[in-house]
Amino acid sequence: MPIEKNDSQLLSELAPVVDENLTRHLAEADGWQPHDLVPWDQGKNFAFMGGTDWSADQSTLSDVEALALTVGVLVADNVPAYHREIAKHLAQVGPWWRWVGRWTAEENRHSIVLRNYLMVTRAVDPVALERARMDEMVRGYAMPPMHLIEMLANSAFEEKAAAVRHHNTAALGEDPLVAVIAERLAADDELQSLFYRNIVEAAFELVPDQTMRAIASRIAAFDVPSVALPGGTDSTAVLAEAGIYDPAQQGEKVFAPLLRSWNIADRTDLGSEGEKARDELSALL
Ligand SMILES: [Fe+2]
Repeated sequence: MPIEKNDSQLLSELAPVVDENLTRHLAEADGWQPHDLVPWDQGKNFAFMGGTDWSADQSTLSDVEALALTVGVLVADNVPAYHREIAKHLAQVGPWWRWVGRWTAEENRHSIVLRNYLMVTRAVDPVALERARMDEMVRGYAMPPMHLIEMLANSAFEEKAAAVRHHNTAALGEDPLVAVIAERLAADDELQSLFYRNIVEAAFELVPDQTMRAIASRIAAFDVPSVALPGGTDSTAVLAEAGIYDPAQQGEKVFAPLLRSWNIADRTDLGSEGEKARDELSALL
């Protein structure tokens, strides 16, 4: 019967794989700068410095595009709360810790480019965005209790879901620069998902039953991060209606590619507990 390992054993045994993947990630993810994607020449002072305050007629984006970017800011700007939750699970030394720092800085980069773009182009009400940002940060984010492999699988799904949201924003095709920014963020999130995917793959090699159980549990309980929008609506329903992220499609767009890469259907290394988890997983999809 396959063995089980506790989180502290797994942190130590998976550390070399984290190190390798961090090196690969850094080589692939470092090719862009947020300041390059902001049309600074469109910027004007607000009334506080002798200019004109925002009014709705200044926005050139559609409501859907402005909504997608607003959610992008609110999710990415809440990064200290996510950092806190992820950091609790990971050893606070070595490659795991370097990964947490790197991931946090990348999410911050996403919020920087989005917020700069929105302010310079006056695409959304800056006061409403700032209030929503404060509310979101105070509310924070609390991860349900998870073991290490559950957290890793959950993060692989969350990053894939974020990439889907950005790809769909780019596909709106209303503003060429928004499309470039959204595809850039999608590429980062795909790479972050790949990082977690590879660590989960390595966990399969160590503890196949435990890993299959973790994946089945996280798919059963998966929810994308949701934020409260200016006006009091919740992002999940509004994004689904706008076709930016529809939870009804996450089986196909988020779970399926990862499950295929882990060879879930054809694994031959499972014991009875792993087989049971795989059956439960199949019933969910
Ligand atoms: Fe991300």
